[in-house]
Amino acid sequence: MAVEQTFVIIKPEAVERRLVGEILGRFERKGLEIKRLAVTQIQRETAEEHYAHHKDKSFFPQLIEAITKGPVVLAVLEGDDAIQQVRTLVGATDPAKAAPGTIRGDLAIKLPYNMVHAADSPAAAEEEIKRFFGG
Ligand code: CMP
Repeated sequence: MAVEQTFVIIKPEAVERRLVGEILGRFERKGLEIKRLAVTQIQRETAEEHYAHHKDKSFFPQLIEAITKGPVVLAVLEGDDAIQQVRTLVGATDPAKAAPGTIRGDLAIKLPYNMVHAADSPAAAEEEIKRFFGG
């Protein structure tokens, strides 16, 4: 198993509900290492670039509004098979369908408010780390 880095955004609804520690704790308890961490508010332009592949979807305006509406926590996590391990911990995109025991299954109920974004491939992780943390 290769050591990988992955990228996550703890979304505004999670920060507002004071669930940052709960979510980061789940990643840490799994054995992942927090390599970088930042609190910021995502600008509309950056959000539109990050979610460009969803531009034609009907929910795009709702998605941009949800990710830009308040502070977020950005994190780079490292560990064996980190990209897939984090996605497993996070659960299915739709929190109404996410399994109990996952972050979305336990903490969220309705799209687009699914608490966490997690990179879905090594290429996406690299691109997103660069976008949000720079070189
Ligand atoms: P995320 O993993 O950040 O990637 C794209 C986001 O779009 C997703 O989480 C949700 O927040 C949102 N999303 C995906 N599908 C829908 C949908 N059908 N309706 C509303 N929001 C959605």
